[in-house]
Amino acid sequence: MFAVAAGHGREEITQAVGRQLDELDFAPSFYRGNPPAFLVAEKLAGILPAGLDRVFLVNSGSEAVDTAIKMVLLYHRVCGEAQRTLFVSRERAYHGVNFGGLGLSGIVNNRRHFASQLPNVPLLRHTWLAENRFTRGLPQHGGELADDLLRIIATHGAENIAAVFVEPIAGSTGVLLPPQGYLERLREITSAHGILLVFDEVICGFGRTGKAFAAQSFGVRPDILTVAKAITNGAIPMGAVAVDRGIHEAIIDSVPADQIEFFHGYTSGGHPVAAAAAIATLEIYRREELFARGEALSSYFIDQLFTLRELPVVTDIRAYGLIAGIDLAPDGKPGVRGYRLQKALFDRGLHVKTTGDAAIIAPALVAERQHIDKIVSILRRTLAEEK
Ligand SMILES: Cc1ncc(COP(=O)(O)O)c(C=O)c1O
Repeated sequence: MFAVAAGHGREEITQAVGRQLDELDFAPSFYRGNPPAFLVAEKLAGILPAGLDRVFLVNSGSEAVDTAIKMVLLYHRVCGEAQRTLFVSRERAYHGVNFGGLGLSGIVNNRRHFASQLPNVPLLRHTWLAENRFTRGLPQHGGELADDLLRIIATHGAENIAAVFVEPIAGSTGVLLPPQGYLERLREITSAHGILLVFDEVICGFGRTGKAFAAQSFGVRPDILTVAKAITNGAIPMGAVAVDRGIHEAIIDSVPADQIEFFHGYTSGGHPVAAAAAIATLEIYRREELFARGEALSSYFIDQLFTLRELPVVTDIRAYGLIAGIDLAPDGKPGVRGYRLQKALFDRGLHVKTTGDAAIIAPALVAERQHIDKIVSILRRTLAEEK
């Protein structure tokens, strides 16, 4: 799925991890970095949107999101706007399971037992619209849904809002695409009101949308961008927060050089072995031109997937790059069909994540047409059996 973008069993990663374990198997992350951690930050900066090139390394997507939340709060504080504490998220959003990300969650089951610790997070409307069903690529209708942010600003006051967090493509909820013009409009409104825009690219990052990051595919540059999963091809846990240089400087310059600017970090953040895995992974992406390869495969993937639309049980298909969501008619209680289906698919050799009654399909960037054919054929056979 999203993590193993370069395919399983990549020898280069195995070797890099082994060598790193021999050379330096741990280095404390406080006070100083280590060579692989600096190198991975530098390599990431080379593929991130221009100017978004200050990198903080963590161990997961959830940690990346919570780290980003704290950076946002600190940035506004050092800029003399400590009252900006409200975070805006979106219905059906997924931002991990730590308390910050949970506060931003728009998925009810993730939050209902753990009452949100971030107070008062206004949610933008999600971007699924019935009139966009079975659209290939970015949907035509709904760009104006971004104006929901103006309603939230009118209610809470722009001067109190710290940041808007969105997944450029909402992944875990079943792949909701941003309507045409939607992200541009969010960028316009946030910039006009001094609100930071954070893209959570834990799923979208590393070629899933045809470019290194969705920010580049969609031509919208956020202020902060979070990643994880495919950063190491899933081999070793790692996440990262990429930050606009101006935000970084404001925070760094806020205290004298011998004082700590950001009281935050994890013992294993920037772990040298994870960093070695990430360096090897980024090198595979570069050498094998996997982002371009994924982009080239995309239209075949989408064409084949859309042949499933005739099946009675399929109520919507959404797809972009190498990520797609298929909605299925519920079988009585929501989620029953989705659960049954993912088990049946797994038994036939296809691992698909279902969320409720939506199936998420995300082949590796190294996939070939024959793999797409196999995925679609297993899906067709299994979905055809559903009544
Ligand atoms: C958009 C997004 N953010 C954050 C996370 C959390 O990442 P992790 O499971 O590595 O903590 C995920 C996980 O799927 C995600 O999709």
